[in-house]
Amino acid sequence: MKISVIGTGYVGLVTGTCLAETGNEVLCIDIDENKVKQMQQGEVPIYEPHLDVLFSRNIKANRLHFSTSLKEGLDYADIIFLALPTPEDEDGSADLKYILGVADEIGKLISNYKVIIDKSTVPVGTSDKVKTTISKHAKVDFDVVSNPEFLREGFAVDDFLKPERIVIGSSSQKATDIMKKLYKPYVRSGNPIIIMDEKSAELTKYAANAFLATKITFMNEIANFCEKVGADVDKVRIGMGTDSRIGKRFLFPGIGYGGSCFPKDVKALYKSGKDSDYDFKILNSVIDVNAKQKTILIPRIKTYFDQNLKNKKIAIWGLAFKPETDDIREAPALYIIDSLLQSGANISVFDPEAIANVKRKLGDSIEYASNMYDALINADALIICTEWSIFRTPDFSKLKTLMKNPVIFDGRNLYDLNDLKNEGIYYSSIGR
Ligand SMILES: NC(=O)c1ccc[n+]([C@@H]2O[C@H](COP(=O)([O-])OP(=O)(O)OC[C@H]3O[C@@H](n4cnc5c(N)ncnc54)[C@H](O)[C@@H]3O)[C@@H](O)[C@H]2O)c1
Repeated sequence: MKISVIGTGYVGLVTGTCLAETGNEVLCIDIDENKVKQMQQGEVPIYEPHLDVLFSRNIKANRLHFSTSLKEGLDYADIIFLALPTPEDEDGSADLKYILGVADEIGKLISNYKVIIDKSTVPVGTSDKVKTTISKHAKVDFDVVSNPEFLREGFAVDDFLKPERIVIGSSSQKATDIMKKLYKPYVRSGNPIIIMDEKSAELTKYAANAFLATKITFMNEIANFCEKVGADVDKVRIGMGTDSRIGKRFLFPGIGYGGSCFPKDVKALYKSGKDSDYDFKILNSVIDVNAKQKTILIPRIKTYFDQNLKNKKIAIWGLAFKPETDDIREAPALYIIDSLLQSGANISVFDPEAIANVKRKLGDSIEYASNMYDALINADALIICTEWSIFRTPDFSKLKTLMKNPVIFDGRNLYDLNDLKNEGIYYSSIGR
């Protein structure tokens, strides 16, 4: 099948590449000329494990192409995916200007039947808005389908190739049949393609993300309470998680959720509620608790240094919002860096993949180390913000030699309390 993907970011590029991987011919469109040039030269513009292999293979096989022209995309295929940004607007709602802007252009450009598939995370009712917008100019028949994406950065290729489920919101049998045919190769193990109406599909994505954000936040509150009463959240977590109704995943406490999805999606669902005269009390609390959790280590660090961080050198391990990605959108590390800089601290950072993105944002205001140990040279303290696996078993003797003081504030609970005590390292973690 021939497919065009409009918007070639984390979702669009993985979608386009994985659709090509099963033999489709795919044209990926993006307005970012540099990004398109980079991809045309065979370079993957993001870090996503295993994507590079599929990317090169499908370019070589002449199944994966790139362009900046939306018209070219519409001429190329009748199946059009939208993987466009839906960032947070000033009032917390999802900003639909990218989606509706492209929909308007599509209406002007289409000259035969198309199925327009929305992969972006959008509020309930967006399918209708897209339909209305395209209809303003379109003189031909078309369908709009909601097909929310559930891939996780860091596991995106696997998630796309072997999805636990595919959700399709459609009121057109013709479009539903096209979608089923398109996704058939990805559900050979028997995972379901779930067909529903567009509104339910749109809400399914928000409900899933808001639920996961709530689960994380609930555990963060339990961790904070553990500290008050002398319990150990790691033991509580294991005790709880073995109950199959609860499950072991998403129970790890830390310094809050970040990334390009949870923060904006929880806020957008809350705002959608308000717009429909529904007060999502639980989401309001999740937003509030998470905002505080992101900087929960700051008062501890200040207390440790008698409220004076001026010229203290603080090392940071981990900048990405989670491991196995270079994505720093809403990363807790950035909030911590901002607060430390305001207090006069000097900062040196290391991350295996996200340094280039942070450099673009923060420039020379902090130091960038080329490996995890160089970041520690003469540091007064280390803060761990992302649980990259290379941070799990560091050489503590080396760490003690390099740092001015062996002090660790761990936002991800990577180490055993007794081990660090035996090493003679001051160690503060979350909820234990
Ligand atoms: N990143 C994730 O893990 C993830 C997972 C599931 C769903 N989503 C949702 O998918 C959507 C896309 O997210 P993302 O992380 O891929 O965003 P992204 O910012 O990485 O990518 C969006 C791309 O669209 C391009 N773009 C903007 N306007 C355009 C236009 N008019 N024409 C062509 N291209 C244009 C941008 O240049 C960018 O490359 C969002 O709604 C997001 O919430 C993201």
